[in-house]
Amino acid sequence: MKHSSRNKMKSHLGPLFVILIMATKCANGYPQNQHHESNSQLDPDPEFIGFINNVTYPAGREAVLACSVRNLGKNKVGWLRASDQTVLALQGRVVTHNARISVMHQDMHTWKLKISKLRESDRGCYMCQINTSPMKKQVGCIDVQVPPDIINEDSSADLAVQEGEDATLTCKATGNPQPRVIWRREDGEMILIRKPGSRELMKVETYNGSSLRLLRLERRQMGAYLCIASNDVPPAVSKRVSLSVQFAPMVRAPSQLLGTPLGSDVQLECQVEASPSPVSYWLKGARTSNGFASISTSSLEAGSPGPEMLLDGPKYGITEKRDGYRGVMLLVVRSFSPSDVGTYHCVSTNSLGRAEGTLRLYEIKLHPGASSSNDEHHNFIGGLEEAARNLAASRQAARLLQPPLALLLWAWSA
Ligand SMILES: *[C@@H]1O[C@H](CO)[C@@H](O)[C@H](O)[C@H]1NC(C)=O
Ligand SMILES: *[C@@H]1O[C@H](CO)[C@@H](O)[C@H](O)[C@H]1NC(C)=O
Repeated sequence: MKHSSRNKMKSHLGPLFVILIMATKCANGYPQNQHHESNSQLDPDPEFIGFINNVTYPAGREAVLACSVRNLGKNKVGWLRASDQTVLALQGRVVTHNARISVMHQDMHTWKLKISKLRESDRGCYMCQINTSPMKKQVGCIDVQVPPDIINEDSSADLAVQEGEDATLTCKATGNPQPRVIWRREDGEMILIRKPGSRELMKVETYNGSSLRLLRLERRQMGAYLCIASNDVPPAVSKRVSLSVQFAPMVRAPSQLLGTPLGSDVQLECQVEASPSPVSYWLKGARTSNGFASISTSSLEAGSPGPEMLLDGPKYGITEKRDGYRGVMLLVVRSFSPSDVGTYHCVSTNSLGRAEGTLRLYEIKLHPGASSSNDEHHNFIGGLEEAARNLAASRQAARLLQPPLALLLWAWSA
C-alpha cells in the first residue's frame, strides 16, 4: 500500500520533470522569462535562493544537501534522486523506504536532505523541485569517497619464475577517486627494471602503475615486492608479492688450494648461489701423495677410492650460512694429519641441478728451527695459493676472473 503511494508520487512528478527540462532549456534562451514575470506581478513565483552546494564525503559519513526557496506560498518542495526520478521526500516527509534518508525543514526557507551512513550507491545527483507550473528544479550532487582496496583475486599471488624468463606483478585496486598504485621492494632495495629491447637494468626506488613487468629476470631481482594503493582517502593499503627467481646451484671455492702444517685446524670454504634453497654436503675424494702438483679439474681421479661423505663431529666442523639465494659452506678439518691430505668437494643440489667445487688440502712442511710466526705463515700460504691458481686448468681460471658468466657456463656444462 505504501508502495502504491510512492508510485503515484513518482508518476505525478515524473512528467512534470520532463516539462521542467524543456523549461530550463528555454530559460537559457530569452522568450520564456517575460512570460514568467507577467505572472509574478499578481502572486510572486517561488524561486530558489542560491544554489545547492555539491558535496564530497567519505563512505560511512553523513551527507547533507540544502535547498533554499523563497515565496513558496502554497507550493511544495520535493527531493528526487536525479538518476531514476525516485521521489525521496515531499516537504517535511520522507516518502522512500530508506532508513538512512531524512529531511529537515529549517528557518522557513531551507529544506535539507540528509543521507547517513553513506554508501557508494548514494553517489549521484539529487534534485530539489518546486511543484510550480512549469516545475522549477535545482540539482546538487554527492560524491562518495571510498578508501583504496586491493582485489586479491585480480592481483598477483607469490610466484616462482626461472631465471631468464619474464614475470608480471599485478595489483588491481578499487576506490574513489581511482587509487594510484606504486611498487617498491620490501627490503628497501631499488627495483631493477629492464626496458624492452634493452640489456641494461634500470634502478628505481618505486615503480608507478598497477602492472610491474620484469623482463628476462635475473636472480638479484628476487625478493618480496609491495604494491601500495592510495587515493587520499585513508588508509592506504598494500599487498606483498614474493617473487622467487629459480636457477640451478652455482658453486665457487675462493681458495682451491690450502696448505697447512700438521696438527692445525684448517677451514675450507665454498660460496653457493641457488634457488630454490639447495641441499649441500661435503665429500672427501681421493688422497694424493704429491700435493698440489697433480691438480685435476675432475672431481675424482681414476683408480682412487670412492668419495666419503663428511659428517659434522669431532673431526669435521660443518656449517652453512644462507642469506637469500647466496650461501657459504664451511668445513673445518681439525687437527690436520697426513690422512687429511687430498681433495674435498662441496656439493650443492636443488630441483634444477647440481654443482660442486673442488678444493685440495696439502701439508706445509715447516723448516726446522725456522720462525713460525703467524704473519709469515699466512704469506707463505698466500704465495702458494697464487702459484697454484696460475697452474689451474683454464676452465677454473676463467671462473675466477669472470665469475657470473663463466660460472653460468660452467654450471650448465657440469
Ligand atoms: C554540481 O555538480 C553538477 C554536476 O556536476 C553541476 O551541474 C552543478 O553546476 C554543480 N553545482 C555547483 C553549485 O557547483
Ligand atoms: C610516480 O608518481 C609520483 C606521484 O604521482 C611522481 O612524483 C613520480 O615522479 C612518478 N614516478 C615515475 C617514475 O613516473
